[in-house]
Amino acid sequence: MLNSQEVQLSETKTSVKIQSMTAQEIRKKYLEYFKAKGHKIIPRASLVPQDDPTTLFTGSGMQPLVPYLLGQPHPAGKRLVNSQTCFRAEDMDEVGDNRHTTFFEMLGNFSLGDYYKEEQLTWFWDWLTKIVGLDPAKLYVTCFSGDKKTGVPKDTESAKIWKDLFELEGLEAKEIELGSQADGHVKGIQDGRIFFYDASKNWWSREGEPANMREDEPGGPDSEVFYDFGTPHDAKYGKYCHPNCNCGRFLEIGNSVFMAYKKTAKGFEPLPKPNVDFGGGLERLAAASDDNPDIFQISLIKPIIENLEKLSGKDYDQHETSMRVIADHLRAATFLAVDGAAPSNKAQGYVLRRLLRRAIRYAFELGIEQQLCEQVVPIITGIYESDFPEVEKQKSDVVAIFAREEKIFRQTLRSGVREFTKLAEQKKKLNGEDIFRLYDTYGFPIELSLEEAYLQKAEVSDDWRKQFDQLMAEQKKRSQTASVGMFKGGLADHSEAVVKLHTTTHLMYRALKNVLGDHVVQRGSNITAERTRFDFSHPEKVTPEQLKQVEDIVNQKIAEDLPVNWKEEDTKEALKTASGAFGDKYGDKVKVYTIGDPKKPFSREICGGPHVEHTGMIGAGGKQFKIVKEEASSAGVRRIKAILEKVAGAPAPKT
Ligand code: SER
Repeated sequence: MLNSQEVQLSETKTSVKIQSMTAQEIRKKYLEYFKAKGHKIIPRASLVPQDDPTTLFTGSGMQPLVPYLLGQPHPAGKRLVNSQTCFRAEDMDEVGDNRHTTFFEMLGNFSLGDYYKEEQLTWFWDWLTKIVGLDPAKLYVTCFSGDKKTGVPKDTESAKIWKDLFELEGLEAKEIELGSQADGHVKGIQDGRIFFYDASKNWWSREGEPANMREDEPGGPDSEVFYDFGTPHDAKYGKYCHPNCNCGRFLEIGNSVFMAYKKTAKGFEPLPKPNVDFGGGLERLAAASDDNPDIFQISLIKPIIENLEKLSGKDYDQHETSMRVIADHLRAATFLAVDGAAPSNKAQGYVLRRLLRRAIRYAFELGIEQQLCEQVVPIITGIYESDFPEVEKQKSDVVAIFAREEKIFRQTLRSGVREFTKLAEQKKKLNGEDIFRLYDTYGFPIELSLEEAYLQKAEVSDDWRKQFDQLMAEQKKRSQTASVGMFKGGLADHSEAVVKLHTTTHLMYRALKNVLGDHVVQRGSNITAERTRFDFSHPEKVTPEQLKQVEDIVNQKIAEDLPVNWKEEDTKEALKTASGAFGDKYGDKVKVYTIGDPKKPFSREICGGPHVEHTGMIGAGGKQFKIVKEEASSAGVRRIKAILEKVAGAPAPKT
């Protein structure tokens, strides 16, 4: 029986639900409910983790709290509650059905060594059935069946708590042993309510089941709640349906992880105090509240879909996949940008760029051929700005950055799609050579060729990748041969004048990013004793005011006489924070040059050198940096020529 004082239920019996709740109301009611149970509301953490080099994105509510789950005291106490925005890049290709998204909010309550199973399960149940008002008869739960390898026993405690809770609602809760997902398809539901699964389903850690966890990672058995939409089972997923079946009838809406273990070299060791990490997908909870399995119809997403219908003049019913992909990807992209990511060719920036490109491509399919981001992103920011003030603050910058990115990409897209269509009409089957040509000549990314093949129902040969890689390797060899006799990094020679201009070019690259934005990526450089010539991505003419700002920053950094240092780093690490040139391929280790305090440098670039030792050397002899020309180089690429010139009355030289 439920005994402790703390776990009193809100009412005794659940009344029949009349109205669904908006996602915004659900979020608010959740925070309020757990606040009343002694929890501190904490803000969401950035989608781009600040101090966690192990991962690119925040993918679960517990992620920013790992140190506290491992025992470090949290400044806000032992009971925390929040709504954490999450992004799972690995789900990008799954988006299109009625329930997968890359971006979602996870409602989370956390006990840092405080309350445990009884409070957690009772509170969640109480909130779910009494506050959100879900029908208990539509809820099914799962528990951990125990694991010999880790020695973690079967979770009979949770099962007992659930049984009592169901009984209070007059529902008999039969327990069924299911084991793995495959076993579930053989055994089916069998009139059960409480299902036991093994570690492949009812164990949670960031890396999944125990065997996949790295050392020092916390994890534990979990207990999940599923909502039954009552939709027919699709036998393509397995003979019988069961809570963890992927047919869409059952949707997981909340997961209570009993995070009580830490992986060590020897196996699993109990944490000093067991924790609770609860996560419930807000969008899914809202879909359950609407009793509609299509999560793209909830209050946080529907306005985006309606806007897409208006812009395209097409119905959602007929174009579900495209509209879902666009809505999901632009939601994700917006929050990534609000949290500091900018489209680029590396790390988070690359994923953001991919999201935008995919959204634009699907919009193109719907006939939305321009200004997708300008017309849709404000709808998204409008949905969130009153709940997340940072969205309100960033919205105009985000729209401007996306609009620039879209403009550049539309050109590539148009010519690439045109060429692809021509090829698909001419040939029965496309091969690696075709995909390479689209990539090499039109800058059409591989994944878009594959998506195009899917959309246009064109066949692609099985060995396209092998052929593509071979052509790529040949092309690389050709370009290496062409550059023999030239110095790496486009330097004419290693004379003092060239080296000075080389370091100046690093300063200018950073200054361009500061003034124009992080979308600026080096596309080429050529440095002689007389001048530096630098190509970079930027969609429009750089204004005279912006050029002046760049000049001022560079001259300021020369005057500050900053130290120039280099260090060899692992390429993967270096690429996270250092600038590189578009399309460059690097080995395992790279040289990273910093200008300024190496711990907080002004500029950080992957580069072979050589450079001056300190920036004051550039200004020797009263020289100042001056941009002499700014022009278009190719579509979406600008070219700057700049020199070091002697200025009368310049500051005293430093050497
Ligand atoms: N960490 C668990 C999850 O992501 C519960 O918050 O499902």
